[in-house]
Amino acid sequence: MDRNQIKVLIRQMTLEEKAGQVTQLPSRYFAIQGSQLTGTETKLGISEEKKWLCGSILGKLDAVSMRNIQKENLERSRLQIPLMFMTDIVHGYQTIFPVPLAMAGSFDPGMVRECARISAKEGSAAGYQVTFSPMVDVVRDPRWGRVMESFGEDSKLNCDFGKAMVEGYQGENLKDPDRLAACVKHFAAYGAAEGGRDYNTSDVSEFRLRNKYFPPFKACIDAGVKLVMAAFEALNGIPATANPWLLQDILRKDLEFEGTVISDWGAVLELIKHGVAEEEAEAGRLALESGVQIEMATAAIVKHIEVYVKKFPHLEAILDEAVEKVLILKNELGLFEDPYRGVDPEREMRELRSPDKKRAAFHAATESAVLLENNGILPLTKETPVILTGPYAESKNILGPWSVDGIVEDAITVKDGLILKGGRIKEVIQTAYEEVTEQDSDRIVQTVASGDVVVLALGEPELWSGEAGSRSVIELPEHQISLLKKLHEHQIPVVVLLFNGRPLDLRKVKEYADAVLEMWFPGTEGGNAAAALLYGEKNPSGKLAMSFPYGSGQIPVSYDMAPTGRPKADLVQEPRYKSQYLDIPNEPLYSFGYGLSYTEYDVQVNGKIVRQEQEYLVPVKVTNLGNMTGKTVVQIYIGKKKSLVARPVKELVAYKKIELQPGKSKEIVIPIEEKTLERWIPGKGWTKEKGEYTILVSNDGQNFQRMELTVG
Ligand code: GLC
Repeated sequence: MDRNQIKVLIRQMTLEEKAGQVTQLPSRYFAIQGSQLTGTETKLGISEEKKWLCGSILGKLDAVSMRNIQKENLERSRLQIPLMFMTDIVHGYQTIFPVPLAMAGSFDPGMVRECARISAKEGSAAGYQVTFSPMVDVVRDPRWGRVMESFGEDSKLNCDFGKAMVEGYQGENLKDPDRLAACVKHFAAYGAAEGGRDYNTSDVSEFRLRNKYFPPFKACIDAGVKLVMAAFEALNGIPATANPWLLQDILRKDLEFEGTVISDWGAVLELIKHGVAEEEAEAGRLALESGVQIEMATAAIVKHIEVYVKKFPHLEAILDEAVEKVLILKNELGLFEDPYRGVDPEREMRELRSPDKKRAAFHAATESAVLLENNGILPLTKETPVILTGPYAESKNILGPWSVDGIVEDAITVKDGLILKGGRIKEVIQTAYEEVTEQDSDRIVQTVASGDVVVLALGEPELWSGEAGSRSVIELPEHQISLLKKLHEHQIPVVVLLFNGRPLDLRKVKEYADAVLEMWFPGTEGGNAAAALLYGEKNPSGKLAMSFPYGSGQIPVSYDMAPTGRPKADLVQEPRYKSQYLDIPNEPLYSFGYGLSYTEYDVQVNGKIVRQEQEYLVPVKVTNLGNMTGKTVVQIYIGKKKSLVARPVKELVAYKKIELQPGKSKEIVIPIEEKTLERWIPGKGWTKEKGEYTILVSNDGQNFQRMELTVG
């Protein structure tokens, strides 16, 4: 169909049929068993006939059920308008990749593009056409459970990885039946929820919104993302779902989005709870007027559209625009030509969980893990006798939140991984998350003999992060720390593996462990990846995409803080009156960009910065000083000595991951795009300031080589 034919179709539709098209209902209302609740349950209160007017369905599906539902829809649809099927494929469909916060630490958007490509192959084979991904909420508060779903605290990483996922899902042509339309979320600043408490208010300056929170959405829009999901929360006093400034002035005009805006689950009716709507009819009208084009999981608009149009005739034109967006998307997906998009159980069986996809999951897990501490105990030899213990010793619950369709049975446990690698496992003692009995800890200590190493697989239960997974403290359960401390007190060598969805307070872990390997929630191949890293078959190369604070008291903390008028670094007579804590440092325990390797690297500035067209080329020489091949991430940060605004001391503007053989050096040039020098400045808009810039070069986010750059 072309645009004109779509307009003709809209003119043929009744008011109710149009209202149905902007309604999205959970699959459970269409007799699909087992769909997982991802939002508040809401009784619909509409007739069976009106239910079938809905334009799209979200949630649990497979090839057979998709075909059956689409068939019944087409039998019922007067104008033969196909249904669209959407779901949350966030870090894999049935083959699960590490959580996005982990994958951001790979500093390899190309790898994540491939993970999204694979996810699209699996999800589309099951009958889905749209995924509610990527999530690009910039996050600075690890109390918020959804940090695991984000690409971390840095705006540029969220830009790069969000763009890569959109490209991986959508490809060049959405009519390819093994592609998915992407939906970037949650617009906007949902990750700035006050207190890190999910769904809470976000109050963010326009300076930060425009320089930090909006750019990842712009990157996804420029990559062609088809949908944007409005956030749950009230942003600066106005719920995002009923915020014309956000959904029209910013999203449509400034960010130039032309696709479809969808509400979050139940967020339209939640306008009543926010206190900006009296009842459901008003809630639906406010959302529609503000720029929402699909109402997720509730039916306010379709229930009250007749009333709306009588009282507010202008609404029908707004509704027509919304319907047009929805029909254009269905058309781009090729649904008018083939409502089934070639979905069948045979293709589903062939695509899902194939060995090549699991290899990609293994690769992603090894590239995303971060070595935080190592006194030389790692890598282990296969002959090292290992006592494996802790709540994640043989747990398959390593897929992480938002892996609703992941196959837990496929997950490779740490125990599986060590055995498959031919490791010498002396004993496996699985403990609980929150309780290690005296008997268990005594048994562990007594089992250890000289020369043995304990691999202690610790972490949070999956449900302690993810949606509605907010915690007031970011510590491991105390029994886990007690066990680690006891082993330390017995001078037992301990390697800690961590399985968690958020940065944690690791002060005690750092004190008592001989090595700490952050696995995050590594997905289906987690155990194989852990084993390959522990035995040195893979050399850890991941970096942190989010700072690990000195505990909850330091939150929010991120690497790109402003200097303040009393920087702690200042040498002043009176050492008290500076911006500092009396009890802890200002810097996090582990910084953004930090991560060790089994080898050492030397990173040196290698000449002068050269301007070439729209880029500044930063010359760097990297040397692998160790005896193992390894990868490191050279990071380029920028600061401005004098600016019209109080800018962060440093901001990431470029990076490059490179692999080096032992003893080898590489001279590389890392380009800084001129555009990344621009900042949105109140009263001036986007501005590239001239003058002196500081360029900082690092491969660990803590030690820097400094260069000067003058921008004319
Ligand atoms: C949830 C989440 C959103 C998700 C949607 C559909 O509440 O906030 O990220 O895409 O509902 O499951």
